[in-house]
Amino acid sequence: MLSAEVANRIAAGEVVERPASVLKELVENALDAGARHIEVELEGGGIKLLRVTDDGCGMNAEDLALCVLPHATSKICDVDDLFRVASFGFRGEALPSIAAVSEVDIVSRVRESPVALGLRVRSGRIEGPMPASGAPGTSVCVRGLFAEVPARLRFLKQERSELAQCVDTLVRLMLPDNSVSARMVHEGRTVLEIPAALDRRQRIAALLGDELAQGLLEVHGGESGLALEAWIGPCSLVRRTSQEQHVFLNGRCIRDKNIAFAIKDAYRELIMPKEHPVAVLFISMDPAQVDVNVHPQKSEVRFRNRDAVVGLVRSVLRRRLLAEPGERRLQMPAAEAVREIAALQSDWGGVLSAPALAASAASPAQIHAKAGHRCNTLARLPAHSGPDLPSIVRDGPLHFMQVHRAWIVVESSNGLTIVDQHALHERWLYEELLQRFEAADVESQALLVPEQVQRTSQEVALLLEHQPLLARLGLHIEPFGTSTILVRALPLALRRVGAAELIDEALRVLADEGGGSSASVLVSALAADLACRAAVRFGDRLPDEEVAALLQWWQRNPLLRNCPHGRPVAAGISLQELEYQFLRKK
Ligand SMILES: Nc1ncnc2c1ncn2[C@@H]1O[C@H](COP(=O)(O)OP(=O)(O)OP(=O)(O)O)[C@@H](O)[C@H]1O
Ligand SMILES: [Mg+2]
Repeated sequence: MLSAEVANRIAAGEVVERPASVLKELVENALDAGARHIEVELEGGGIKLLRVTDDGCGMNAEDLALCVLPHATSKICDVDDLFRVASFGFRGEALPSIAAVSEVDIVSRVRESPVALGLRVRSGRIEGPMPASGAPGTSVCVRGLFAEVPARLRFLKQERSELAQCVDTLVRLMLPDNSVSARMVHEGRTVLEIPAALDRRQRIAALLGDELAQGLLEVHGGESGLALEAWIGPCSLVRRTSQEQHVFLNGRCIRDKNIAFAIKDAYRELIMPKEHPVAVLFISMDPAQVDVNVHPQKSEVRFRNRDAVVGLVRSVLRRRLLAEPGERRLQMPAAEAVREIAALQSDWGGVLSAPALAASAASPAQIHAKAGHRCNTLARLPAHSGPDLPSIVRDGPLHFMQVHRAWIVVESSNGLTIVDQHALHERWLYEELLQRFEAADVESQALLVPEQVQRTSQEVALLLEHQPLLARLGLHIEPFGTSTILVRALPLALRRVGAAELIDEALRVLADEGGGSSASVLVSALAADLACRAAVRFGDRLPDEEVAALLQWWQRNPLLRNCPHGRPVAAGISLQELEYQFLRKK
């Protein structure tokens, strides 16, 4: 039989990893107690001292005496309650676990009581409750985290990084409820100040930054007992990691790889595969429809109907993204900067050399700043002021020209558009492949002599596992010994690409996406890669008829603005902007 002290330490290992996890538990308790304001004080990144003070309901003597004992939760009573948990806490494990690996002092006062009560826990020994002084609410102070558990102490990072994680944790905890305010002070310095906010956007701005919050698109959706409120970045606002994706379920921050995948899928083909969108999602549902008692830290949950949640996230986000105007604007130097240079040049009575320009009053940094400002302004112009090639040249003759064997310059009624020939052709082939795939009608061309392609036996096995899928894409293969594949037919649309190359593409996609992805994801990824391989390249001279065919296809499909890998197909500039750039208009 384990002693209570040992048992608590084992439990502590699951709940308490570092200062940030202590902070999470204490702030969740404060929120469960109905706090309107929460103060956090830290020393040494929270390792030396971590105190959370709230103005919530407080604890009476009886609750206080129980709160550090294992499983003494006041939040649920019976097993049924476990299936409709509406509070953050329900395990009655956090405080005992924290007290098992640190020194804990609690001061608490219920509103009706004139005095506060204190409780001390030292090495598992509980002292109190005893009279103390304090305002209504609760203050929990945790000192010397893991001081007596050296094995754990070693795993902590430097103060600075522990502090950063604490800040992150508080930010996440404060996102769902606009009305609660909080402050975090580290060694006397305020590191985070979160005022009560009027609305969600204001709260997001306070926590994630003004600029980001202003750019986010708001969208709502839902169905029978399931509601989604999403704040998502437009396709132009992407990050290198998924760190700026926050998912809340009934106010609880969760990590769920299915939802993460649904977000990624909503942005599929709209951003580059390595880019990560910004997204803050608030999902609300009947607590009975979800099990939060999966993991001690409660960040993982199990949905009764996972497909409904994932499907809702994907469709709501996707619909919103496709409704966004998609034209890209060519980013030109700011007209202000152009004017400024022109003014300088006339001051100097002639053409200015670059060093002279640099030495002059308008520093490049200033010009750059102005250019940046101008670009931002352009980005905010209403969408219809941009050129819109497909809808505009629909009825008239196409005026275009291929330049540098790479770009197609097209006249549009209100400006000009530059098309990336490879990206557009890639998109065309991709759409065709997908359509044919859906209609089970991918034309393939049998090879007169089947081609043998040698690969490792694992690769051959992987290919054969997906043989039917590849066949539907027009790539017919057969086993030929353990390390050779016999290619019998290739997709007609991709006849420029050789058998060995197609096999390599297929292997790459299967290795990247094969594990657990749905067939449709696999097909899109494969089709995207195959289309990229087969499309005209940069450097290919295109006869006018081919250019015209490309543009005509695009006219019929004006919504397709990106290649399947997310790169823009075209960018344009309006006459109005051109006139502005050439100083014909103010
Ligand atoms: N800030 C607080 N204000 C009022 N009561 C509190 C506060 N913190 C803790 N308590 C009381 O102490 C009990 C134990 O807290 P603890 O965090 O250990 O468990 P829990 O929140 O019930 O469950 P979990 O382990 O899932 O967090 C709570 O049920 C609550 O009654
Ligand atoms: Mg708790």
